[in-house]
Amino acid sequence: MAKIRLPFFNKKNDKELNLLPNGKIPEHVAIIMDGNGRWAKKRGLPRVAGHKQGMDTVKTIVKVANKHKIKVLTLYAFSTENWKRPKSEVDFIMKLPKEFLNTYLPDLMKENVQIRTIGDDGQLPQHTIEAVKYAKERTKGNTGLILNFALNYGSRYEMVEAMKQLVMDVEDQKLQIDDINESLFEDYLYTKNISDPDLLIRTSGEQRLSNFLLWQAAYSEFWFTDVLWPDFSAEKFEEALFDYQNRKRRFGSI
Ligand code: FPP
Repeated sequence: MAKIRLPFFNKKNDKELNLLPNGKIPEHVAIIMDGNGRWAKKRGLPRVAGHKQGMDTVKTIVKVANKHKIKVLTLYAFSTENWKRPKSEVDFIMKLPKEFLNTYLPDLMKENVQIRTIGDDGQLPQHTIEAVKYAKERTKGNTGLILNFALNYGSRYEMVEAMKQLVMDVEDQKLQIDDINESLFEDYLYTKNISDPDLLIRTSGEQRLSNFLLWQAAYSEFWFTDVLWPDFSAEKFEEALFDYQNRKRRFGSI
């Protein structure tokens, strides 16, 4: 079978990799963008310099996702546990969505990208809420890639909130207990109307979920790399896609 040649190499053995022409492309890719702090530390820079560089990586990866017609890209930008960080770092991260959207919204419009978020946005600073709200509004008619930022997101919190809402709907007699099943439960999650991630990537060598999409990742394929997020490149992303193309997904079947 003829293969489409893509201009990247597996640097370890200099062997050219090819994405398979009829190979599957994941519909939904979720990424834990880890390693910003270590990237900065290695260079004698403050941690926030890593986050800033990480923001530029987001731009690169969005382009690649669009090029391969990935439908949803969910990026873990801030977890419910990240509030434990020094206030100066939290404040810096909270300014990034605005900075990203200020500089990049015209390109996102051209690329037909739709911005969404998951997480508890009520606790975010007002300027972050407003920047994100504006971008969502501006891009809501776009039909290309859904760029979904997980902002103040925690999977356990998401599920507890879903359960509370379910209980209220039972109390209000909008639902019967017997109506509750997996599919209905999913309607109460932030990811309602978004398919589960097919491929979940984590950078920086850590191999854990850190409270990210615990329900949704039940059958995701995982891909880990030692590369720190600010160094994550188009080539590395395509390496992950190539690897995904060669996975056999059985979903519990044989
Ligand atoms: C984890 O690395 C990274 C974060 C908690 C922040 C991620 C944010 C970005 C990449 C920028 C997001 C951009 C937009 C547009 C919202 P870490 O700080 O835990 O790294 P470390 O493990 O090396 O300390």
